[in-house]
Amino acid sequence: MGLPGSGKSTVGRQLSRRLQLPFLDSDHVIEQRLGCSIREYFEHAGEERFREIESSVLDEISRGEPAVISTGGGSVLRPMNRQRLRERGQVVYLRSTPEELFRRLRHDRKRPLLQVEDPLQRLRDLYEERDPLYRETAHFVIETGRPSVATLVNMILMQLEMAGLVAPSQPAVTPKT
Ligand code: S3P
Repeated sequence: MGLPGSGKSTVGRQLSRRLQLPFLDSDHVIEQRLGCSIREYFEHAGEERFREIESSVLDEISRGEPAVISTGGGSVLRPMNRQRLRERGQVVYLRSTPEELFRRLRHDRKRPLLQVEDPLQRLRDLYEERDPLYRETAHFVIETGRPSVATLVNMILMQLEMAGLVAPSQPAVTPKT
């Protein structure tokens, strides 16, 4: 989880390959169910109805088969979502600064919340509101900063390995023959 533009889908997809697990993107599942884009749905039905559907999709996929799940940035807004995600899996928060997100998203037209006059200010507000919620929900916090996607994936795997949640992918020291 993390704010829009933090790399959840890209990092999540690569992580799922390394863990040999299916990958699910909750926004993608929602769009399939809606039959239209999230932006269109926001426009005609409003954010509250979107949040209802988001909650039920998150409930469903977090109860399903083991998978790497990338969640929409607002998935932490409802306490019930936070509780379910934390209890049912290992939650990784990809933490980025609003300025970094703005650099990546300044040309974005897909995300309804950022179609405002001052998207940087909107990202700052979202960060202020949500950073404490992501931290409260996550088992692991990864600062996205400069590293490449592959490095971020390795950082997550290392945390999972250190916590004994996945088997080490390679021996730390190559054994002498
Ligand atoms: C939202 C983030 C979006 C999407 C919807 C609302 C949010 O997902 O769920 O537009 O409230 O931050 P991404 O985080 O993948 O952009």
